[in-house]
Amino acid sequence: MCGIVGYIGWRDAAPVIVEGLKNLEYRGYDSYGVATGTDHLMVVKRKGRISEQTECVAKCLGTRGIGHTRWATHGPPNDINAHPHSDCTGRFTIVHNGIIENYAELKRGLESRGHHFASDTDSEVIAHMIEEAWEGDFPAAVRAVLPILEGSYAILALCADSDEVIAARKRSPLVIGIGDNEFFASSDATPIVAYTRDILVLEDGDLAVMRRGSIAMEHGGVPIIRKTTYVDYDIEAAKKGGFAHFMLKEIFEQPDVFQQSFRLAQKHPEISSLLSHAHGVSIIACGTSYNAAMLFRYFAEKECGIPVRVDMASEYRYLSTPSDEVVIAVSQSGETADTLSALRKASSCNCPTIAITNVQGSSITRAAEQVIYMGAGPEMSVAATKSYMAQFAAFAGLLSGMNCNNGTSSVERSARQAIEEALLTDVSEAVALCVKASTLFYVGRGIFYPVAMEGALKMKEISYIHAEGYAAGEIKHGPFALLTEDTPVIAVCLPGDSYQSMLSNLREMKARFTPLIGIGYEDDVDLQDVADVLIPVPKGDTYAQVAAVTVLMQRIAYYTALALGRDIDKPRNLAKSVTVE
Ligand code: AGP
Repeated sequence: MCGIVGYIGWRDAAPVIVEGLKNLEYRGYDSYGVATGTDHLMVVKRKGRISEQTECVAKCLGTRGIGHTRWATHGPPNDINAHPHSDCTGRFTIVHNGIIENYAELKRGLESRGHHFASDTDSEVIAHMIEEAWEGDFPAAVRAVLPILEGSYAILALCADSDEVIAARKRSPLVIGIGDNEFFASSDATPIVAYTRDILVLEDGDLAVMRRGSIAMEHGGVPIIRKTTYVDYDIEAAKKGGFAHFMLKEIFEQPDVFQQSFRLAQKHPEISSLLSHAHGVSIIACGTSYNAAMLFRYFAEKECGIPVRVDMASEYRYLSTPSDEVVIAVSQSGETADTLSALRKASSCNCPTIAITNVQGSSITRAAEQVIYMGAGPEMSVAATKSYMAQFAAFAGLLSGMNCNNGTSSVERSARQAIEEALLTDVSEAVALCVKASTLFYVGRGIFYPVAMEGALKMKEISYIHAEGYAAGEIKHGPFALLTEDTPVIAVCLPGDSYQSMLSNLREMKARFTPLIGIGYEDDVDLQDVADVLIPVPKGDTYAQVAAVTVLMQRIAYYTALALGRDIDKPRNLAKSVTVE
């Protein structure tokens, strides 16, 4: 996690860096810092959010600099642990995203040789190591340090005596924007696209030395040339556009997002064909992307009879990887560390690999053999909404190419319509029950089990109410002990093969006085009978039902969090892109 930005050129560096860091706040927002250089380095760093900063721009002068927005891994969020970190002399300062796994050993060695550490962070060792390695040549000092660092890093470094910004990468994202006699470095392209669309993506092991008007790239100490790519990015789409929160805006974008993503996936008939003929399909993902992958499992197994295994990417390394499985890595950001390492494991076992991602040029796109872009546009809210819908639509598009669902045009149209209706449905009675709760259960059967898991994840991450998504049939095997008149259950109960079992489950819960929020058809008299609140779902095929229920659950979570006064777009302790394992 953490976002880093660097600049060297002819503009004042601090405003460029501060604006850039605001765009990267989704990566972490517990503290921030900026360093700029003229003949000495000026550092400002504080606990809190870069969006609230008032000092960096005034205090940090100069046309080269680096900055950081932090998601704490080593040491609590405070002024001292905020980056940049400097060496004993103040000649060098660095910002770092990643984890230096051998920092404790390195720190002991440095301390024994007389270095004094200011912070609790792993990152600070880098500045002291550069200090030790320095013999008057800044790039040579950084080059000497990198092979000693174990773990992951994207590093930007400044030296008071050199008019350079140095960037280095290993398993943490880092890109460079090539401007007109100026260079921008960043964790992703969003802070850069306002200045230039020509982006150079660093590979693991790359080091870049940016000077005024020139850049020198090397890989493992050997000079190399990396090609730039032109990045397509809709700057307007990354603004709130009149909505109170990015999350609400992104929820409302979902009719278009479904359509766009469905069509993009359909442009990959070769991938549909690969999946149709696979011995097995294995999907690796985290969080919301995992829940979207579970949707594919239910649809593909039911409609196409293809066995689909879905694993949490963080657990994949402990499991077997049969080489005859097609492996799909699903990640909105394309930078999730666990998903990336699981994907690399699959590649090393010779599995055909596919990435489904929303971010062009992200690490996952370079690690997979084939890529499907979700086309959701920038998702700024930490809580994933439209990216989940886009992943679902991408899977639906692939399934349509496998000729086992009910036809391209009807899925696209029915899902879109269902989303539009769900955006207007009144969810206030459900919200009124949720706001009072300290624990909630979300239950469903079959395809609505992963929908329930995603509903619970949304609720917990933005409202901080403990919420669990459960397979309705499983709830009797333990969680029943938690059901009381103060524990609302949100249950999806729609006609289909699970309907009667669902109704029985709801009656069992009702017998424990549990407040029930039923999500189902408005004219369902049995559901009306058992549920305290009925949230209506428009009639449609299963794809439309999944899309509609998803939107309803997103909106219940959003309005509950709103009523509780939560920080909806930047929930506590979270970051959008989890780039550490
Ligand atoms: C979802 O709301 C969360 N922000 C989180 O679970 C997220 O989906 C997860 O970290 C995976 O991210 P990715 O899709 O970028 O890999």
